[in-house]
Amino acid sequence: MTTTPPAATQPVPGARAVPGLPADFRWGVATSAYQIEGAAAVDGRTPSIWDTFCRVPGAVVRAEHGDTACDHYHRMPEDVAMIAGLGVDTYRFSVAWPRVQPGGTGPVNPAGIGFYDRLVDRLLEHGVTPWLTLYHWDLPQELEDAGGWPARDTALRFADYAEAVHAALGDRVRHWTTLNEPWCSSWLGYRTGEHAPGRRDLGDAMAAAHHLLLGHGLATARLREAGGPDLELGITLNLGDHAPAGDSDADRRAARLADGLGGRLYLDPLFRGHYPEDVVADLADRGVTLPVRDGDLTTIAAPLDVLGVNYYTSHRHAGTDEHGAATGPDGRPVDRDVPYGRPRTAMGWEIVPEGLTRLLVRLEREYGVPTVVTENGAAFDDPAPADGSVPDGDRVAYLDGHIRAVADARAQGADVRGYFAWSLMDNFEWAFGYDKRFGIVHVDYDTQIRTVKASGLWYRDTVHLTREAA
Ligand code: NOJ
Repeated sequence: MTTTPPAATQPVPGARAVPGLPADFRWGVATSAYQIEGAAAVDGRTPSIWDTFCRVPGAVVRAEHGDTACDHYHRMPEDVAMIAGLGVDTYRFSVAWPRVQPGGTGPVNPAGIGFYDRLVDRLLEHGVTPWLTLYHWDLPQELEDAGGWPARDTALRFADYAEAVHAALGDRVRHWTTLNEPWCSSWLGYRTGEHAPGRRDLGDAMAAAHHLLLGHGLATARLREAGGPDLELGITLNLGDHAPAGDSDADRRAARLADGLGGRLYLDPLFRGHYPEDVVADLADRGVTLPVRDGDLTTIAAPLDVLGVNYYTSHRHAGTDEHGAATGPDGRPVDRDVPYGRPRTAMGWEIVPEGLTRLLVRLEREYGVPTVVTENGAAFDDPAPADGSVPDGDRVAYLDGHIRAVADARAQGADVRGYFAWSLMDNFEWAFGYDKRFGIVHVDYDTQIRTVKASGLWYRDTVHLTREAA
């Protein structure tokens, strides 16, 4: 990727109230099971596609894996106390399917679900609302062996799993997210092979996308039936603002297609009941059709209460290469990233907070659904903790800019109801391993000592001051 700026170039500013965010605005921190839990073979958990993928040579930086991660499975009570200490009202976490239903089918594993049962109780005792994600990428390996998400049966299995988790936790958990970032599961998992299970086939990726959405729809119906109107149901998508770099037709087409494959391919069936025609036509040009059966689109479009938005960066697209050619060596239309020229995070992602404002306003106008920012944050090469503190001024500046971007979106009419920082603590950043630290709490992986970073203290104070001022 591109250049990484030096760590903590910015001083840590004091916290201030963010004008325009109401008293009932939801403030949270987020994590996911495989990234923090560890205890990979404990209490009956079976391998997921990520356990397998981490063993593939070259798949993950330094062959790292989630066997221990942040050892959250054994440190959950202290971690919940830490969450409460940050003053947030909501904790977004995910349930590990292979813990709860080893192998992905059959009866629930009491020890596995027991962990989440205790987690939910502990959160509620501390006055923190649980926000539960059912699937954050850890498909049971047996289901991948049977075909994975490209196989329709996986969607049916997911609905069974969702119902089983609801039967155990639905009396206390009101906020349910079916899938986290299905684009990543489909595109990175089955097209580019950067994520588990590491397959590389466009047809498989598009079948996976459809079956992920179908699984979402089937699970939504089951949860609604079991939980009634009190449940708040949603899905979380990774979205950004995709703008044409100039006003040529080629640039506009490049931006439209990028937004089509990454955003509208999910948004349109969820909220409009059909796949976007231009994306379907583009796929047909490449010999791929979505395996849609009668009734699927109605299932997928089951009404939702909230759309979760994970936002990190935005892009500008050019439809021609540096020499003006509109097609590449593969015969495909060119899509060239034209940077904004902004500072970048340690992931190489440009920092574009106003893209979040544009995105949220557009979602309101085009889809009319209430949103919550279920992830936003940044990896930086933080200084090591010294005297119990980590002065991560770059992260504070990032969070501050994006929280203000949310307030701007609200001022422009977007019904944004909450903001969750990614992440509560440093964790396993998938193919990048442990090097990329997104936490507002530092984790020493040798000792498992947690140190709240300056950004964590700043976030706590910002939440407090904003609530007080509202
Ligand atoms: C989105 C994913 O949901 C999360 O698992 C990941 O760590 C962050 N993005 C940062 O890349």
